Amino acid sequence: MSGEGFWLSEVDRNSAIRGTRPCWKPKGFIHRFSTPAALRSASFCQESPVFRVAAPGECTYVTRRKMDRPHRLARSRTPGFHPGNTGSNPVGVTTQEMNKGRKYNVGVVGIGAVGTEMVRLLRRRSFPIEELIILARRERQEIIDGEPVEVRTATPEAFDGLDIAFFAGTEGVKGASVTFGWEAVARGCVVIDNGDDFRMDERVPLVVPEVNPEALRDHQGLVANPNCSTIIAMMALAPLHRAAGLSRVVACTYQAVSGTGSAAITELETQCKDWANGRSPTAEVYPYPIAFNVLAQIGGVKDDSGSTSEELKMQRETHKILGDPSIRINGTCVRVPVFNSHSEALHVELRSPLTVEQAREVLAGAEGVRVVDDIENAVFPTPLATSGIDEVQVGRIRPDPVFENGLALFVAGDNLWKGAALNAIQIAEKMIELGVDEVPSSAVVKSGN
Ligand SMILES: NC(=O)c1ccc[n+]([C@@H]2O[C@H](COP(=O)([O-])OP(=O)(O)OC[C@H]3O[C@@H](n4cnc5c(N)ncnc54)[C@H](OP(=O)(O)O)[C@@H]3O)[C@@H](O)[C@H]2O)c1
Repeated sequence: MSGEGFWLSEVDRNSAIRGTRPCWKPKGFIHRFSTPAALRSASFCQESPVFRVAAPGECTYVTRRKMDRPHRLARSRTPGFHPGNTGSNPVGVTTQEMNKGRKYNVGVVGIGAVGTEMVRLLRRRSFPIEELIILARRERQEIIDGEPVEVRTATPEAFDGLDIAFFAGTEGVKGASVTFGWEAVARGCVVIDNGDDFRMDERVPLVVPEVNPEALRDHQGLVANPNCSTIIAMMALAPLHRAAGLSRVVACTYQAVSGTGSAAITELETQCKDWANGRSPTAEVYPYPIAFNVLAQIGGVKDDSGSTSEELKMQRETHKILGDPSIRINGTCVRVPVFNSHSEALHVELRSPLTVEQAREVLAGAEGVRVVDDIENAVFPTPLATSGIDEVQVGRIRPDPVFENGLALFVAGDNLWKGAALNAIQIAEKMIELGVDEVPSSAVVKSGN
């Protein structure tokens, strides 16, 4: 048993691999992985038929030399919106390890559902921060993971001296991005925007770092994070597209309330308590109660297609990210009474055939993806298992007889992390890695919405 493969025990996780937080599993649990890729894509929170938990003493320790690059593996439970999370392993090189010692003045704009996770993840990933400034509509103090953070009022002058700002304010004309986005760029601050306002702007790269990092090279100071459902779908679709070419996609989503923001999280919680206490639920955020219900509308209907804005975002953004407008995409986006993590049933037609085994292999080798697929043993992705982890899980991989070269799959991913805050931070990390972490001088004159 010993010697072959890549072993990791809870005991050595903090020492052999750069972990900073205590592990929550009992000491002595050991995992064996046949390749570094399998190690990267594995979640340590549960035993699965793929990854056996071996007896203590069977292992050799994982060292940096045994892996193709260092990884962050240790984390603690995330409080807040991850009620079912039993742990995970954020995977990826830390920014501190990638950059050349430079530290950045960083802003987070908006401190709602996404902004809070942004602050949490910046801390966890050891992003090289000189000073962190948090801006929102009004000044106050917030507590994140027990630590107080000062929130200042967002003004144009607040961006003077900032190197990078992560925007997680609301969308639209009164939102943070439209009000301050290009203004911040004009003041020399790189903006990474979570909202929809500039995603289709030709000046703005729309980036999932595992999929189209090269788009960052032409940025004009403002980079957009795709919509959460698009990012989570992209993590599975892009590797399949690279392998066999996508021609058609039908995507049906099961989206958590955290995707609407902090008010919706409170609303689901309140409605559950109302139900338990025999009171009629009051709906304010959504048109109907979300507790014990599903709502087949996310966003408004803005044209005569009958599709909602969320459904149209998935179409347009997929075309822009993959650089292929010929892919035909449709689907239905549905809000479900889940606190966190979006799930999606994806039905795809490929340009050339790919067996289920080949698809599994492609997805298992994809960065940021974990294959969780053994239906006979009830192993498949769920929102609870993916809440509070970096990876997007993919399962239920099977032929889809509806399509020529058809495949069906089911994905789940944390909409606040990979669908928003984590992807935004990974964009910044990639910009640092590529050496494109400043506003180009030509972009400053392009201010304005
Ligand atoms: N939730 C998700 O899963 C998800 C995923 C992808 C993208 N996004 C996008 O991320 C953004 C944030 O979403 P969220 O869910 O975190 O929303 P949220 O919980 O409603 O929080 C919004 C935050 O934005 C701040 N804000 C609004 N207008 C502002 C302005 N003009 N100037 C400064 N701050 C302003 C608010 O400040 P106050 O606290 O002072 O009111 C609040 O802190 C949205 O654009 C959303 O579409 C969200």
